[in-house]
Amino acid sequence: MSRKFYITTPIYYVNARPHIGHAYTTIACDTIARRQRQLGAETFFLTGTDEHGQKIERAAQAAGKTPQQFTDEVSGEFRALWQRMGISNDDFIRTTEERHKKRVQELFRRIRDNGYIYKGSYAGQYCFSDELYVDSAKPGDPCPICGRPTETVEEENYFFKLSAFQEKLLELYANPEFIRPETRRNEVISFVKSGLRDLSISRSTFSWGIPVPDDPKHVIYVWLDALANYITAIGYGSAHAGAQEAFKKFWPADVQMIGKEIVRFHCVYWPAFLIAAGLPVPKAIVAHGWLLFEESKMSKSRGNIVRAETILDVLGADALRYFLLREVVFGQDGSFSFDALVQRYNSDLANGIGNLASRTLTMINRYFKGEVPYASHAASRTAGDDAIVELARKTISEFGTLFDQYQFSRALETAWGLVAAVDKYIVENEPWALGEKQDEDSRSRLGTVLYTSAEALRIVTALAHPVIPEATARIWTQMGLGDIKKVDLNGLAWGQLHLGTKLGEVQPVFPRADKSAIERMQKMEEGQKGAVGEAKLEAVAPAVAATVAPAAVSAVPGPPASEKISIDDFAKIELRVGLVKVAERVPKADKLLRLEVDIGTEVRQILAGIAEAYAPETLVGRKVVIVANLAPRKLRGMESNGMIVAASLEGGKPVLASFLEDVPVGARLK
Ligand code: ME8
Ligand code: MG
Repeated sequence: MSRKFYITTPIYYVNARPHIGHAYTTIACDTIARRQRQLGAETFFLTGTDEHGQKIERAAQAAGKTPQQFTDEVSGEFRALWQRMGISNDDFIRTTEERHKKRVQELFRRIRDNGYIYKGSYAGQYCFSDELYVDSAKPGDPCPICGRPTETVEEENYFFKLSAFQEKLLELYANPEFIRPETRRNEVISFVKSGLRDLSISRSTFSWGIPVPDDPKHVIYVWLDALANYITAIGYGSAHAGAQEAFKKFWPADVQMIGKEIVRFHCVYWPAFLIAAGLPVPKAIVAHGWLLFEESKMSKSRGNIVRAETILDVLGADALRYFLLREVVFGQDGSFSFDALVQRYNSDLANGIGNLASRTLTMINRYFKGEVPYASHAASRTAGDDAIVELARKTISEFGTLFDQYQFSRALETAWGLVAAVDKYIVENEPWALGEKQDEDSRSRLGTVLYTSAEALRIVTALAHPVIPEATARIWTQMGLGDIKKVDLNGLAWGQLHLGTKLGEVQPVFPRADKSAIERMQKMEEGQKGAVGEAKLEAVAPAVAATVAPAAVSAVPGPPASEKISIDDFAKIELRVGLVKVAERVPKADKLLRLEVDIGTEVRQILAGIAEAYAPETLVGRKVVIVANLAPRKLRGMESNGMIVAASLEGGKPVLASFLEDVPVGARLK
């Protein structure tokens, strides 16, 4: 019988659209799941969205939508992003699904029947952002997690006897594998040692949640609802035999991956709920650090987010995956920057594995008609050949050890050590010079050098597959090896590349990125900030038109006088008169209009964040000013090819630039 492996991400709150902080957890889990599949485990990888509670209800209100409409929309965005990134999750659970709601009620009943729930009333502080009861706080005190002011709540609640679990929890933590890394384990131990108070597990002053069984005036506390997803998704509380089987098979989870700010919920409340229900606890809870951007935790409320889509558009999913796992020391905080991303991409992917693959395979094509040559075992072998074999063997075992301890960065460093060694080996052995000679010794030497390089490439490719699945799958096919998913990592060893294997068509997998890639990504992010109605999501109002309009006239003060540009700089901007032919709203984007604009030489599609200021029908036939030579960018999956110039008024209202005299379509402004 095969070993099972169950891994989960937290389920993401739908008050914010996905950003690369969310992608970080998801990518780490996806990578682990993929490696487990390669190791032959029957793997189940779960992710999803956390959709109930007052925070979400308020966000929906601010967006002028019903909670159901709102959560459908944002949950859909998470799902679509994971799909686009090729995330290999086996299920996606939404807490608003019927299957979840029924099973959470079942869990509640079970805990209640076991005697751990009683009725009482809570009067105290609550953090609405973290959905956390802050027992010790006074009115106005900040939340210990996010620092926002807590709010006072006073209501009748159901309570969970958390205080009864102190000893049992401390026993669990005695196992050093249960909470990782060590620093988080120590924090939790001291928190629990300091004493546990009973926990309110229902709310009665709003209704966007799962009703308490037999007392529907109350809804179940959103964290009890959310944590339960890990078991409801695999069948806990279901009446179906198949679901019960799945639950028996996969629970307890092997790894529950979380960010460090939700350790208390996962390491204290969650195991206590499970024990109270008579269920086993997960085998390991692993907390990672934060992705920082512009020096603080990347988060929606700070507004310092980077969307994954931008990186996918310019460099692809593998680049993001590799960067996050290679650059951030897992467990610690790590900084994101576009510079560092492009630098890593070029040094390790384009010039690293990408270049190794294309040079090695191209030479096998050229000198051996695309068939893997013979590696000599005879006296002509050099110490250099054997050193590569030795290093490859060591890499296989070290990579596995480090990876399985979640030391992704060091594991990748080890694998890329092999890439660097083979690069050096190729330079030293000059296969291109050997290829010019026809004598038998040179041919045999050339065969050995290219076999050695290709075999090392195959090994790095197999190991790196969980981290950069797309590129490695392509290299695998180019090597004529078929489907990389079928590789059995347990048996990976030197010498499995067969003489005579026919290569597929060789193509570069990681084209080099130039400096403009950085600028492009930065622009796309800036362009995103005001353009898609983010303000509606969180009742914070960013300057609407600031990015739609590189405003010629602006009520917002411009750059300081010292930052003057030359006439040549200005001449780079191609401003033209355009005629609006078509204007329509973009579904689900309150601020966005899709325009078709005739600029004399062609008709362009342009997306503009002006829907709140201009009804589409008033724009058709109107002449506008267009930045015609702006790099195209994607918004909501549609290409925007240019930009409309508007004055950006304080308060966000855009006013389109226009002319008093008649001007011909296509005329240049200079
Ligand atoms: O906490 N850096 O959801 P959430 C690293 N719904 N990771 C980050 C990050 C950043 N800047 N920003 C977010 C919740 N994350 C609850 C969980 S589970 C039963 C309920 C990651 O959307 C981090 O892993 O606020 C965090 O734990 C996860 O996103 C979910 O964040
Ligand atoms: Mg959060």
